[in-house]
Amino acid sequence: MDGIDYVLKSRDLEEPRFVQQPLLEELEVGEIEGVPLFSYPQVDFPISPNVALGRNLNSILDASSKTEMYLKLALIAGGTSALWTLLTKGISSGLSGGTMDIIYRIGVPKKVHELLDNVDIAVGSLQRRIQIGNIMAKGLMKNEVQRIVSIAGGSCLIPIEAIYQARKYGVQIVNVDYSPKANQKAEEILELGRKKSDMGIGIKYLPSDILNEDIPDDIDSPKPQIFECTGFWEYLNPQDRERLLTKVSSSLKVGDTLVLTALFNNPQQALFDKMGFKKLNPQDFNEYIKQIVNSGLKVEKVYITPNKTYVTAVVSR
Ligand SMILES: C[S@@+](CC[C@H](N)C(=O)[O-])C[C@H]1O[C@@H](n2cnc3c(N)ncnc32)[C@H](O)[C@@H]1O
Repeated sequence: MDGIDYVLKSRDLEEPRFVQQPLLEELEVGEIEGVPLFSYPQVDFPISPNVALGRNLNSILDASSKTEMYLKLALIAGGTSALWTLLTKGISSGLSGGTMDIIYRIGVPKKVHELLDNVDIAVGSLQRRIQIGNIMAKGLMKNEVQRIVSIAGGSCLIPIEAIYQARKYGVQIVNVDYSPKANQKAEEILELGRKKSDMGIGIKYLPSDILNEDIPDDIDSPKPQIFECTGFWEYLNPQDRERLLTKVSSSLKVGDTLVLTALFNNPQQALFDKMGFKKLNPQDFNEYIKQIVNSGLKVEKVYITPNKTYVTAVVSR
């Protein structure tokens, strides 16, 4: 298994990636606003959508009332508890409260794969999990970074996996997230990892509202840091994006990196709207890059998931 000759399989990702694998190789696929655009062919997982489940999901578009919609969702979930959690908590909260790990396919049964493989942004989320992990693992390996600041980090699955892929001992994660459930999930993942091999990872939880409170001073560091923000930008309106960038920009020093992911395209937006999913705001490439540049930062590279749903910008001061 080496280079771009292999493709990862979603069923192999049900456990967090605690075992180091060869780093993924990037492929340059274009250029936007003078910024090189890359993709990772190895995360173009084979998918096996259950067509009948997909049809039931799409039939929600024809539901004439909320009751009918919930009945249809209940029928789809059947006896699968992970799907009930997604439906009862995930849809209303925009995948907060620890439900994100179901989308990342951690510990899920076959039916969850079969349902989620029908949904482009669910497939794209799994692709972005590996894409962002790989970008950060490279960042950890090539310089003296000892800390990742995860903004709205949730269960911190992506930074934890990045550290295991880089096999770098004693890296700290600072999780700026106000959800106690997310922090609890992060501890569970850490504990699982420690049992396999203890990488000396420590997580500091900063239960702060990143949009309405100042960035805590604790994230200041004389050493270069990676700031990572995933699964957050797509829920923000243009003003809140400005606020987030202003805050991050004021903390980002020369030598630091920001790894920021945006939703680029949600082909099933109508279905998400119908289900009452927290509002998602896809963003056009050029506008995304311009907005980052206008906040005084430099976009070094952009990565796109193979199914063209999410883009990740690597940003510096
Ligand atoms: C969709 S999850 C993404 C989590 C994680 N980054 C990932 O990709 O798995 C969004 C996270 O943002 C957190 N969050 C939402 N609004 C926030 C805010 N204003 N300040 C801090 N955290 C916030 C939620 O608690 C949740 O854990």
